[in-house]
Amino acid sequence: MPTETTPDKINLAIFISGRGSNMSALIEACKDSSFPARIELVLSNRPDAKGLEAAQKAGIQTEIIDHKAYDNREHFENAVLTALKTYDIDLICLAGFMRLLSSHFITPWAGRMINIHPSLLPDYKGLNTHERALADGKTETGCTVHYVVPDMDSGEIIMQRRCPIAKDDTPDTLAGRVLEQEHIAYPDAVRMIAQKLLPPAS
Ligand code: GAR
Repeated sequence: MPTETTPDKINLAIFISGRGSNMSALIEACKDSSFPARIELVLSNRPDAKGLEAAQKAGIQTEIIDHKAYDNREHFENAVLTALKTYDIDLICLAGFMRLLSSHFITPWAGRMINIHPSLLPDYKGLNTHERALADGKTETGCTVHYVVPDMDSGEIIMQRRCPIAKDDTPDTLAGRVLEQEHIAYPDAVRMIAQKLLPPAS
């Protein structure tokens, strides 16, 4: 059951498809009583997503909506929209959610859904960001938290964090360095948004 709400925090739903390390960074942040958000739901489109276990261990409600069980994107998205109605969600955080959402889903959540992406957008939208940054001989990369709009990885940027690329980096070493920045950026971005959404402290 969703937990009782108090007005000093916003309610998050986190969508994952895999490991869930960004989700775990948000779980950690929410342990601080001054953090202005709580996690009401972790939702995965993959029954085998590793992050589900960490969410359950943290006592967070989980939902699995397997996209393979639906014959098209709209039916899958309708199932997710229906599941969300059970909760009082203020903000959806996509955290390694590897299913493209269409405007059918995004429009009703416009301005209330954010994503974290492993590049300095607008550079390297889509997949294999680290491979492409290395192939281009870049010396710096990073991560971006942005609002979700129907155009993939194109919504308004909320926050970016940068890190250097070393000469001997591989896609894996670089992914690890960027991930450290992601784990700082995502809680920071959620805090910023929550502070805007919440009424000022009296
Ligand atoms: C993260 O690097 C995230 O930025 C990326 O997937 C990884 C998920 O890791 N997301 C995308 O590429 C979305 N386009 P996590 O499951 O450990 O949070």
